[in-house]
Amino acid sequence: MLGTHAWAGTPTYHRDVEPLLQKHCQDCHRPGQVAPFSLLTYEQARKRASDLQTVTESRLMPPWHASSKEGGPFRDARVLSDAEIKLLADWVEADCPAGEPRDAPPARVWSSDWALGKPDLELKVKEAYTLGAAGPDELRVFVIPAGLTEGRWIRAIDFRPGNPRIVHHILSGYDITGRARELDAEDPSPGYATFGGYGRLKNGFPFFPQGSLGGWAPGKNPIVMREGVGRFLPAKADVLLQVHYHRDGKVETDASTIGLYFSRTPVDKLVRGALVTPPRPGLFSRPVLRIPAGDANHEVTGEWTARADIHLQAVVPHMHWLGKDFLLTAVYPDGVKRTLIKVDRWDFNWQDSYDYDTPVAIPRGTKIEMVAHFDNSRANPNNPSNPPKLVTWGEQTTDEMCIGFLHYTRDSEHLGNQAPPVENRLEMLKKAAAARKGR
Ligand code: HEC
Repeated sequence: MLGTHAWAGTPTYHRDVEPLLQKHCQDCHRPGQVAPFSLLTYEQARKRASDLQTVTESRLMPPWHASSKEGGPFRDARVLSDAEIKLLADWVEADCPAGEPRDAPPARVWSSDWALGKPDLELKVKEAYTLGAAGPDELRVFVIPAGLTEGRWIRAIDFRPGNPRIVHHILSGYDITGRARELDAEDPSPGYATFGGYGRLKNGFPFFPQGSLGGWAPGKNPIVMREGVGRFLPAKADVLLQVHYHRDGKVETDASTIGLYFSRTPVDKLVRGALVTPPRPGLFSRPVLRIPAGDANHEVTGEWTARADIHLQAVVPHMHWLGKDFLLTAVYPDGVKRTLIKVDRWDFNWQDSYDYDTPVAIPRGTKIEMVAHFDNSRANPNNPSNPPKLVTWGEQTTDEMCIGFLHYTRDSEHLGNQAPPVENRLEMLKKAAAARKGR
């Protein structure tokens, strides 16, 4: 019987497969986490053996949507090597030998404590949100006053989803204008509902947090900033947690937490944000996006030019349900091109932030070009409109967006630990418009 006495070259569960599942699968495939079943025991793995082979060979699992051949390399990439995929396949084809329990690695333990130790500031959503058993995914923004009397530099950020069965991912930023509090007050439930963004200003323009505090998705390690680089949380800011909920068929509650670690060494450079979008007809207009009904491969392009020498720390692609693929390319002033990120199979459910292993130098004058495709045909099972309709830019499920968020530092910036100037995006746009008029 092959089950326990495999020949020497055949992978066994305890010796070969178990360490692989521990490293690449168990972050999500264990009780209480986002995946629908566990992969902690021999029986659990054997029962689904052919599925394990299929989803790894097709690279559906572990979920990771950036190409590992072009773009990156990224920190925390959830990617199996060809040898690991072959190992799983060989094990399945050999009829899943268990092997010797004494070859098994020690079981993995997950500390319920913070990976980096106790944060300097733990901010938890005050009132738990109750998510119903049935219906589509939900996005809500929770507003938590940070209570800082003076601004602080942040060297690391981590999150604790309150209920990992339903928290699919979290994005975070902060608000110093009070707008998020107003939106919260207008929505009777804890937090406020949104789709993709953070809601709107009273005049209808999109409301952006004034700064980002990164995000969390299952399996993601804490965000640790490099020496001399930080994010800044101003005095009196409200921290915003945008939580994407995925229902599990039961009524569930959640109150998630963000943990902030203050910098102990001087910070010289602020992590800043910029957006690559399709062109806007005017500074205050929305980007133009028109995806005709029935078009199965509609191309959308946009570009952003660096006005200073910068280093790109991370990129976050964002589209809705019609997105198919997404590409950002740096075109250097001498014409040389470098792929920054390539997503071949866009999946709305995995809005990851992709952090570079080593920040990418982007000299002044470099163009960052975006090319994305959308499938607005009836054949797209994710199309929220049936029959398909003309789709334009907007926040709703039935609208679309096409954004490359860039997180970067400025080479010339030397703050010497001084608080960075607070940047209000709307004020910046107004100033830019006034400067243009004056020319
Ligand atoms: C980051 C979280 C995460 C990791 C890591 C992960 N999975 Fe999954 N897995 C999921 C989720 C969530 C689902 C449910 C389907 C979905 O949302 O895509 C799933 C579904 C599956 C399925 C069922 C697929 C289907 O079509 O029904 C299999 C099989 C699977 N995973 C195997 C694996 C294996 C093997 C690994 C490691 C090599 C792995 N997963 C790593 C989150 C994860």
